[in-house]
Amino acid sequence: MPNTRHFADVTTAATLEQQRVLWREHARLIDWQTPFGEVLEYGAGARLPPPFARWFVGGTTNLCHNAVDRHLKDRGNQVALIWESTEVERTETWTYAELHREVVRAAAGMRELGVQRGDRVLIYMPMIPEAVFAMLACARIGAIHSVVFGGFASVSLARRIDDARPRLIVSADAGSRGGKVIEYKPLLDHAIELAVAEARPAHVLLVNRGLAPMKTMPGRDVHWAELRSRHLDSAAPVEWLESNEPSYILYTSGTTGKPKGVQRDVGGYAVALAASMRHIYDCRPGETYFCTSDIGWVVGHSYIVYGPLINGMTTILYEGTPLRPDPGIFWQLVAKHRPVAMFSSPTAIRTLKRYDQSLIRRHDLSSLRALWLAGEPLDEPTARWAGEWLGCPIRDNYWQTETGWPIMATPAGANPHYGSAGQPVFGYDVRLVNEENGEPLDNAGDFNHKGVVAIAPPLPPGCLQTVWDDDERFVRTYFHSIPGKLLYSTFDWGTRDADGYWYILGRFDDVINVAGHRLGTREIEESICSHAAVAECAVVGVHDEIKGQVAVAFAVLRNPDGIKDAAMRMELEGAVMRQVHDQLGAVARPARVHFVTGLPKTRSGKVLRRAIQAICERRDPGDLTTIDDPGPLEQVQQAHLG
Ligand code: PRX
Repeated sequence: MPNTRHFADVTTAATLEQQRVLWREHARLIDWQTPFGEVLEYGAGARLPPPFARWFVGGTTNLCHNAVDRHLKDRGNQVALIWESTEVERTETWTYAELHREVVRAAAGMRELGVQRGDRVLIYMPMIPEAVFAMLACARIGAIHSVVFGGFASVSLARRIDDARPRLIVSADAGSRGGKVIEYKPLLDHAIELAVAEARPAHVLLVNRGLAPMKTMPGRDVHWAELRSRHLDSAAPVEWLESNEPSYILYTSGTTGKPKGVQRDVGGYAVALAASMRHIYDCRPGETYFCTSDIGWVVGHSYIVYGPLINGMTTILYEGTPLRPDPGIFWQLVAKHRPVAMFSSPTAIRTLKRYDQSLIRRHDLSSLRALWLAGEPLDEPTARWAGEWLGCPIRDNYWQTETGWPIMATPAGANPHYGSAGQPVFGYDVRLVNEENGEPLDNAGDFNHKGVVAIAPPLPPGCLQTVWDDDERFVRTYFHSIPGKLLYSTFDWGTRDADGYWYILGRFDDVINVAGHRLGTREIEESICSHAAVAECAVVGVHDEIKGQVAVAFAVLRNPDGIKDAAMRMELEGAVMRQVHDQLGAVARPARVHFVTGLPKTRSGKVLRRAIQAICERRDPGDLTTIDDPGPLEQVQQAHLG
């Protein structure tokens, strides 16, 4: 019998049989309407060839039932959701019974708008409770939600509409960030215009927060409040879904400009989240969890919405920045709501580190058993600082949009290994392999040998099933990138020490990580290149003290003599930045745009992005024997450092 509690003992060496025993055990953490047959269908005799896996085959269940309905009996009066907004200065709470009522109303409203099982519903919303109601309502009726981060702009949004072809889009008049109103509706209208006609939604459901004037399109646009008022007492029964039906799509960036729709199942995801809440985050029903992410990212899906609710906890939805009204706001919220665990990003903590530390000491943080950080490497000084000031353990955890829950984490009670993301979590067969041939690297303790962090299939429950509408891309992108072996590539370099602790050294594809936000450099390059003055460009991620990385662009102009002086250069840089901001959103805006007359390329014409990045970070650019002309690399150096 494998140890169902923790980490390495059931991972790397676990056989499929051990996995089946482990996950049968964890499957008891959720409700099943009809029991499953096989725990795992994989390999010989399976319906789909490897690497496709099916978990809890034939079992029917529902995410909304597990997150809401099943708690009604014992926790109907317990607070399920706390909404704290420092943007509009409001605090509101919903018990499980009240949450249930709102979700049923939203689900009945969606039904009225024609949404059926398997239809996609795109959710483009600020951090307001209706966003949570909408997600759970979709889950309830078997609609597939696709939440798009509110910080993305029209072009990013249009691409996702094109791919998901939603029947309904749920949105709002506006969001607010740092006290500044950001209108959503005009961006959304523009995105729908940009989207291909067949992909446009039949309806747009709008929450009117009264933050911005809103033009509505009769027939298409519907007001949330009106729809809700028509369904105050409507019923919306739970739709029981086979465990392997899709629950949601979440778009993420990769090597191409086209975002990938990470598709998640129902049963596997519910089980994995339930197991992670208990055995990784060490949380119990009735306790409070505070995750500072955004519902538009995977961390928000798993650990603001589904994970804590499936585990019968109180979850906090926070609309606001870490700095307003003052940089003590996180700790003020901890003192007020007394969460046992908090989940945030290293960037947020690095930002807070710059401010007066008495802002922490002023608040009672004794409820916190741990602060969990993820999304980017956690540096030792930040971890030590946070541990000292918060007086609780700081725990790293490493995962991806694709996996939906941690691949690695620091086990509770273990001594911190600073800089390490921890050890592989139960269910993941993580391997460190040679990038050329997929052979295992036996380098424990040897930090000079990095390898690719790979996972041997089948991926555990809760991980992506496929890429939405593109099985071929799923296999090719994730499982064929390491030659010779069928292994899932995380696209991260890593290494490990003699104690079995792993260290994540960063991505080797074209993904960069700005303030914990995952961005594709190709998307930013495409946006810059669509500026009339630009002929070609390269975007790289450059180390930044606070944000981890920032995007830096090098652009070649169509007319190299077009810039006459520094003022013109600055004006054009500003214009290009604004264009990225308007097309993709503020998160994707590069920190600098340098104008150069050529990009460093290999003789076969490939842009040497890694060399550019190394130069910008004052590192050795490595082997340059294939470079066509060293001139442009010198220009890069001059432009960025000179
Ligand atoms: O490069 C790794 C980095 O973030 C990537 C995944 O980003 P995303 O899909 O947005 O999912 C974030 C889920 C927490 C990874 O490929 N990353 C994530 N966590 C860590 C990390 N790098 C180092 N340490 C971590 N703990």
